[in-house]
Amino acid sequence: MSRKRIGIMISGRGSNMAALIVACREGRLDAEVALVLSDVADAEGLERAENLDVPARAIVPKKYRTKLDGDDARAYAEAFREAGVEFICLAGFMRIVKAPLLEAFPGRILNIHPSLLPSFPGLEAQRQAWEHGVKFSGCTVHFVDASLDGGPIIAQRIVPVLDDDTAETLAERILTEEHELYAEAVGKVLSGRYRVMGRRVVRT
Ligand code: GAR
Repeated sequence: MSRKRIGIMISGRGSNMAALIVACREGRLDAEVALVLSDVADAEGLERAENLDVPARAIVPKKYRTKLDGDDARAYAEAFREAGVEFICLAGFMRIVKAPLLEAFPGRILNIHPSLLPSFPGLEAQRQAWEHGVKFSGCTVHFVDASLDGGPIIAQRIVPVLDDDTAETLAERILTEEHELYAEAVGKVLSGRYRVMGRRVVRT
């Protein structure tokens, strides 16, 4: 069976993107990152992708600031289709993905979020958790639907919140876990050995 082709969407630094590229290169994931797209023209992750020899470019949406919709979403779907992409991983992509991109890749768009969903969706999840005073936070990989960080959960990891943590130190420790969790969760989905039953993603 040929290696699956993955597309990645970023808005910034791209450390999760790099972790996925490296996981493919090291054979931990039986896949290849075929294209990285950014909604931010000068995202640091674009240069990072190029340094890792992965095609990368920005498609800056014209219409909305917080979502990827209509013609803007269509441009992403077309670029990924042309690159032969089968699965899409959002890696720090800071817009809500809408039609027609969602419909073009049904059940094949994943996202990583830096909290134990459904707690603390949205922006600055690590700071939200720290300010709330929870003793445990973590990260979640989930399927993307039209809601905000609300699709069925594929995998999670727990990170304890320490008394001397700041929002920043907590975010750093969560990020380390994100890099491992994302490759693991993508591997699970690419294997096809799962079923989505309502909100529950279970092994088959
Ligand atoms: C990561 O912590 C990711 O989970 C988060 O943004 C960061 C991106 O870092 N994503 C979200 O908050 C999405 N709601 P990276 O660009 O270095 O991967």
